[in-house]
Amino acid sequence: MKKRVAIICGGRSSEHEISCISASGVIAAIDRKEFDPILIGISKSGAWILLKDATDFVGGESGLPSVPENRSNVSFRSNGFFADSNESSNVSPNVSLSVDVVFPLLHGAYGEDGTIQGLLEMLNIPYVGSGVLASSVAMDKTFAKPIYSDFGMNVADGITVHQRDWRENKSLEIAKISALGFPIFIKPARSGSSRGTYKVKDASQVESAIDSAHKFDPKAMAEAAIVGREIECAVLEIDGKPEASVLGEIKVNPPHEFYDFDAKYLDGSTSFEIPANLPASLTERIRSAAVAAFSALGCEGLARVDFFLTEDGKIIINELNTMPGFTPRSVFPMLWEASGKNYSELISQLIKSALQRSQNVVR
Ligand SMILES: Nc1ncnc2c1ncn2[C@@H]1O[C@H](COP(=O)(O)OP(=O)(O)O)[C@@H](O)[C@H]1O
Ligand SMILES: [Mg+2]
Repeated sequence: MKKRVAIICGGRSSEHEISCISASGVIAAIDRKEFDPILIGISKSGAWILLKDATDFVGGESGLPSVPENRSNVSFRSNGFFADSNESSNVSPNVSLSVDVVFPLLHGAYGEDGTIQGLLEMLNIPYVGSGVLASSVAMDKTFAKPIYSDFGMNVADGITVHQRDWRENKSLEIAKISALGFPIFIKPARSGSSRGTYKVKDASQVESAIDSAHKFDPKAMAEAAIVGREIECAVLEIDGKPEASVLGEIKVNPPHEFYDFDAKYLDGSTSFEIPANLPASLTERIRSAAVAAFSALGCEGLARVDFFLTEDGKIIINELNTMPGFTPRSVFPMLWEASGKNYSELISQLIKSALQRSQNVVR
């Protein structure tokens, strides 16, 4: 019997459109001999809708695809997902969608952060990727960093800037931030796609950068800027064991000073070197560090682990993404392609892992 896979995409986060692009890729490449996919979109306002396929997306920000609003027709009860008819879905009222497994292809808040994972745990539906705790810890860099440090990994020096402290005593916060030395990076604790992230060169730019970061998250971070190469590794769980891919290097070209949103998705100025041009011993150290980070946070299924590599060979972990960009041209699938697993195989492997494991909570 084919397994029915619900690919859930869109969502309320600033990475809505990227999630829709990831879902278009998965729906096109999923092995239909093994799986029967359905596509559920979550609109930016949080409405759930059963989509026919990727042609149901509408043009969103920067012309990227987005889930249409005002057509909510998916609901969930303790026994699963249900849909009512609408012009696109052709189903009768309140029909069970009989989902065997969910691929929550959501990036960022309300998706990659443990929230949908919690919902799926309660509904008793297996799902691709990390559970509640690993998802939420990885999402909040202020929680993930101390765990990496605890496991002996290097992280960038930095401090957390809570909006309430910022409002109450801005000059003290600015003094603490400035003590890191410049340049620094200011970013939201729980964001993605470089939204709200700024390279700040002197004290005069701190205030506007923190205000902007706080628009994405009441918790911002200031971090010493690391000068180094950006190296990424994709970790995939195969038969219960996390395996590291070959490494890739992100090469950001001018005018971008770092890997910002436009460099990531829009203007084609970024290139990826896969495999990264590194000596074998360093490659192995970074691959082991990626698996160690995956295990340290208790991840499952997949993760992309991002590092800085300094001139003098120091490996610094920047972040771990539990649901990395997943279009066929995204880093995670490309790293696995170069490691001998194509996009369709990757999707099958992820669903297989999700169906194999019992849910995370000890009963
Ligand atoms: N401490 C830092 N030093 C140097 N570059 C940084 C630092 N923090 C962030 N960056 C740059 O900003 C980009 C986005 O930051 P990151 O923390 O990865 O956030 P996101 O979750 O949005 O991807 C990184 O890929 C890197 O180019
Ligand atoms: Mg990043």
